[in-house]
Amino acid sequence: MASIAVLLSLTILPALISTASAYTCQSYTVPLKNVSAPSFLLSFEIKTEWDITDWTVNEARRDSATAFNPIAGTSTTVGDFDISARFCTPSTITKLPQTVLVMTHGLGADKTKYWDPTFDGGAQYSLLQAAVVAGYSVFHYDRLGTGNSTKADPHTVVQFPIQVEILASLTRLLLAPSSQYTMDISVVSAVHFGHSYGSYITAALASAYPELTRAISLSGYSGVFTYFNILIAGWQSRVAALLDPARWGDLQSGYVTPVDIHADTYLEFKSPYFNHSVTEWGFSVKSPYAIGELATLGQIPYDTTNFTKPVQVYQGRYDLSACGGNCDTVLNATALLWPRASPLNITGTFPAGHSVNLHYNSSQAFAVMLDFVAKNVPDM
Ligand SMILES: *[C@@H]1O[C@H](CO)[C@@H](O)[C@H](O)[C@H]1NC(C)=O
Ligand SMILES: *[C@@H]1O[C@H](CO)[C@@H](O)[C@H](O)[C@H]1NC(C)=O
Ligand SMILES: *[C@@H]1O[C@H](CO)[C@@H](O)[C@H](O)[C@H]1NC(C)=O
Ligand SMILES: *[C@@H]1O[C@H](CO)[C@@H](O)[C@H](O)[C@H]1NC(C)=O
Ligand SMILES: *[C@@H]1O[C@H](CO)[C@@H](O)[C@H](O)[C@H]1NC(C)=O
Ligand SMILES: *[C@@H]1O[C@H](CO)[C@@H](O)[C@H](O)[C@H]1NC(C)=O
Ligand SMILES: *[C@@H]1O[C@H](CO)[C@@H](O)[C@H](O)[C@H]1NC(C)=O
Repeated sequence: MASIAVLLSLTILPALISTASAYTCQSYTVPLKNVSAPSFLLSFEIKTEWDITDWTVNEARRDSATAFNPIAGTSTTVGDFDISARFCTPSTITKLPQTVLVMTHGLGADKTKYWDPTFDGGAQYSLLQAAVVAGYSVFHYDRLGTGNSTKADPHTVVQFPIQVEILASLTRLLLAPSSQYTMDISVVSAVHFGHSYGSYITAALASAYPELTRAISLSGYSGVFTYFNILIAGWQSRVAALLDPARWGDLQSGYVTPVDIHADTYLEFKSPYFNHSVTEWGFSVKSPYAIGELATLGQIPYDTTNFTKPVQVYQGRYDLSACGGNCDTVLNATALLWPRASPLNITGTFPAGHSVNLHYNSSQAFAVMLDFVAKNVPDM
């Protein structure tokens, strides 16, 4: 019997391998208990479309920094949160899967939309798939308040510092011996990837818990907040539950979302460097964001200047929120935020807007991002 089995596997296995997927994934929910972080009392509340419109004016006006203070006081958030996540690893055993790329998405997205788009032909826009083909494991998750993770209070709970603590907790679980979240792979190092708001969370993690990461790669990020008013003004957020009750009626009124696909495109894309069908798909899977997230970004300064590990900043040249629509010369200021990063690798010429991964030729961007990991995080 044994020899027959061997014979069968010898003849059948090649066929199986050629048709089987190059990687396997496991989706699960991580129940995080008693996560705590500093939090803020907000000076405003979003209940109606009038409220969010006035908030837009307050945040976008030229003297916003002095005329509008969204913060009324400080507090602490403590909570239990369910985080929906997915772990993927190459089917072929190599050493690289011991390095896991931990991916944190931005506002308006979820773990699938930005890192592993599911539409027909979406594979070319998937950094996750490029990474597993290159041999790495990938962990990606729905940030608190998005996708299938807990929809906590969008004013008082879903704020910047708790998102940083959640990323730290998830990373500790991945690095723990005999982790139940890594498909039996002993993960030895984590490299953190962020996009947009997820980049700010990643940068904060690197500052607060440098021991949890080997290197970070940021996009949709400059570290410069000068151009946020252009983003707020044009993004035209609305209360999601009122905008589309059938889809978002269950969300509290502090969850907001851009009014239409063109307001969203204004932030995320630059013509002629993207396919309109990709944008249409992206808008169809849009995830509203919590107003508390934008209100608290930057309220606790995370000092990035002492981080000594590899840092990559990979920018679409025409990024609206990070660079005011043109990254030329802006990224010099970014370099000053990471004086001790070694190496610091900043690229600002890729022809794209804010959502780098969803533009044409993103496979070229992925190659540079993954090459940065290969060069700076040698396998064990
Ligand atoms: C929750 O965490 C706090 C510190 O953040 C700690 O003082 C408290 O004992 C913890 N509670 C439980 C039930 O683990
Ligand atoms: C959330 O769960 C639903 C039902 O299982 C699934 O169809 C959807 O793809 C999930 N969304 C994300 C972002 O994982
Ligand atoms: C994509 O890359 C190819 C090859 O470098 C180039 O010819 C083409 O113009 C690029 N497309 C866009 C939209 O940048
Ligand atoms: C744009 O996307 C559509 C739908 O996936 C596809 O048929 C078309 O070939 C794409 N165009 C380009 C230039 O990639
Ligand atoms: C950064 O490092 C310097 C010198 O080691 C130290 O004095 C300073 O307190 C550090 N800053 C932070 C925010 O840890
Ligand atoms: C930005 O840095 C580059 C390279 O160091 C330099 O050539 C350029 O003059 C700088 N631009 C500004 C505005 O400082
Ligand atoms: C940045 O990293 C990429 C990928 O490793 C590499 O091709 C490029 O030469 C690096 N640039 C600098 C200035 O180090």
